Amino acid sequence: MNSSSDVLVIGGGAMGLATAIELTRQGAQVTILSRNFQEAALHAAAGMLAPQAEGLEPGPMLDLCLQSRDLYPEWTSQLTDLTGLETGYWPCGILAPTYADAPPRFTGDAEWCDRTTIHQYQSNLSPDIIGGWWFPQDAQVNNQRLAQVLLQAAQQLGVTLEEGVNVTGFETKNHQIQQVQTTIGPWQAQTYLLATGSWSQELLPIPVTPRKGQLFAVQAPRQTLNKVLFGPGTYIVPRHNGRIVVGATSEEVGFAAYNTPGGLQSLLATALRLYPPLADYPLEKCWWGFRPATPDEWPILGHSPYDNLILATGHYRNGILLTPITAHLITDLIMTGQADPCLANFSWQRFTPSSPATERLALAHS
Ligand code: GLY
Repeated sequence: MNSSSDVLVIGGGAMGLATAIELTRQGAQVTILSRNFQEAALHAAAGMLAPQAEGLEPGPMLDLCLQSRDLYPEWTSQLTDLTGLETGYWPCGILAPTYADAPPRFTGDAEWCDRTTIHQYQSNLSPDIIGGWWFPQDAQVNNQRLAQVLLQAAQQLGVTLEEGVNVTGFETKNHQIQQVQTTIGPWQAQTYLLATGSWSQELLPIPVTPRKGQLFAVQAPRQTLNKVLFGPGTYIVPRHNGRIVVGATSEEVGFAAYNTPGGLQSLLATALRLYPPLADYPLEKCWWGFRPATPDEWPILGHSPYDNLILATGHYRNGILLTPITAHLITDLIMTGQADPCLANFSWQRFTPSSPATERLALAHS
């Protein structure tokens, strides 16, 4: 029996690591059980912090994403102070060019650029671009670096990290988790946090399914872009060192863990149309990952069917963006027992058969 800590975090991706760090800072003893750090959605992303460019509808999800975007400067600088490592947070803004007339989407921190303005503002865009939105407050973080920084911070703070451990099931009694079964034996804690992303259904019947994204990266000879381009069907994310990350497909193909010629062909076509200079840069690599999608594309956060199991999963396209706010809200919930009122919007119960959200989804798909 591995009797561990105050909190046992299942899943060593962005949510698991960031929440473990926050919990530890607040005095909890935390263990993370991680099956494979490399398969976390954290690595698959391009690191856009794009609540506005993603076109989220006004409401609780947009509010959550905006709050999290606001936390980024301080959150990343604290991580850097702790570890001495840079995350690549870059408030570079996001330009969303379009090929067809777009109705105004935002009146707040967004600016419509007409054809002349957008081509002056960003050279070498497709000549078919007729205008676009500029979102000055959207940003990016280097998700590959963030992964290393989170790992290092967790280790420095004394989080116990068990890598290569698969949690295979829960033993429950009276709506409580008694212990979890793992490939190295049972583990116990006072509180459990499920942060297993696309693989959540292996442990709990909540509707989280993988949505595959394929990406590629090129290495430009110098930094040729200084803002993210978010076009129809693709995004182009420049790093300071000239690397450009391009994403992403969105495929319901289960856990098909490979790049496909068809996926890359469609991604290359849309990306090269939007920003033709990409065609001549050295291709560095291509890869894929699995976004944890829920039916309404909002995360599942907060209480679960078990009193001592908390959920932080299903962040779909916005996991990197939502990492700091998730860590903050879930830590508060675990440490104080008080749920922030906003968590009610993200409850797993919205998917139970009689919930209003389930009925809305059924109507939308009928
Ligand atoms: N955040 C963008 C994506 O998931 O493709």
